[in-house]
Amino acid sequence: YFMLKEIAEQPKAVADTLLGRTDGSGSLTLDEVRIPANVLREVGKVVIVACGTAFHAGLIAKYAIEHWTRVPCEVELASEFRYRDPILDQQTLVVAISQSGETMDTLMALRHAREQGAKVLAICNTNGSTIPRESDAVLYTHAGPEVAVASTKAFLTQLVACYLVALYLGQVRGTKYADEIRAVVRDLGSIAGAVERVLETMEPVRELARSLAEKNTVLFLGRHVGYPVALEGALKLKELAYMHAEGFAAGELKHGPIALIEEDLPVVVVVPSPRGRSVLHDKIVSNIQEIRARGARTIVVAEEGDDAVVPYADHLIRVPVTPTLLQPLVATVPLQVFACELATARGNEVDQPRNLAKSVTVE
Ligand code: M6R
Repeated sequence: YFMLKEIAEQPKAVADTLLGRTDGSGSLTLDEVRIPANVLREVGKVVIVACGTAFHAGLIAKYAIEHWTRVPCEVELASEFRYRDPILDQQTLVVAISQSGETMDTLMALRHAREQGAKVLAICNTNGSTIPRESDAVLYTHAGPEVAVASTKAFLTQLVACYLVALYLGQVRGTKYADEIRAVVRDLGSIAGAVERVLETMEPVRELARSLAEKNTVLFLGRHVGYPVALEGALKLKELAYMHAEGFAAGELKHGPIALIEEDLPVVVVVPSPRGRSVLHDKIVSNIQEIRARGARTIVVAEEGDDAVVPYADHLIRVPVTPTLLQPLVATVPLQVFACELATARGNEVDQPRNLAKSVTVE
């Protein structure tokens, strides 16, 4: 399958997206971002518009943008954006994320934003496509062509590009010190190797996926940046395995979704690093206990060395230790493999799932 090939290409894609984006001193040099520094210094709000998997990249980017720049950031489905009459002005930076650069909903959203005077920066994988052509600036992801309908390497490189944009904003606005930026860029540089290590340990994940081929439902839970990862895991499973799959913020469990838990229901839980906000980690561990006590079969994605989850994990998927904000770059990968293998076990056409097109050029 192209999808398997593209999953395997992720270490290189991530490394390529970082290539040439710093100068000798480690400062970011995003030459393609032709929006002048003085305009970026005046930005009062960032609005991210995107669809599907690219939208999930935007949800994760919000955490980094707000944390590193202290600029408020909204993330909106491109298909909803212009219909609610969003508040935009010349101080708004709209970031349009799209692999294909041809998604009509995203294109219409950015056209609307530009009509209102906002500046638009595209994050795109396809050179010369319509979305970058119609934007004020573009940061290309260098994932290489993505053929499989289910987006994988494009997603990881969109995340890298979003982190670069967030750091660049921090650099020009002076909210991040040069040494802090260098440290994050160094961490990003080690992600390719971390993804490689994840890929080397996927056999138990494939085995688990095959064992769940007869199930009807899989739920995904996450907190903080793990929440959009849960949404992405669920989307992959829907589009490839044609199963009922839903992602929830783990904190929402007791507000409704916990009623869905029944005996032997597979629930994938993306656990934040215990070295980050430990309160989040503790809370998700108690979420795992709650669902397990109600019969769920827990599939826990947790970083190496996180022993607190071990007693409550029916299946444990280890990912390398990363800084908290970068965890989605490694935690998403097992969920891609899981969906691909489960779809294969169900006899589905992985690269061309039913009813879906690679690029959605109608609204
Ligand atoms: O080309 P785009 O990134 O604009 O596409 C957006 C979505 O259509 C796309 O991510 C879709 O959700 C994928 N099939 C998900 O795997």
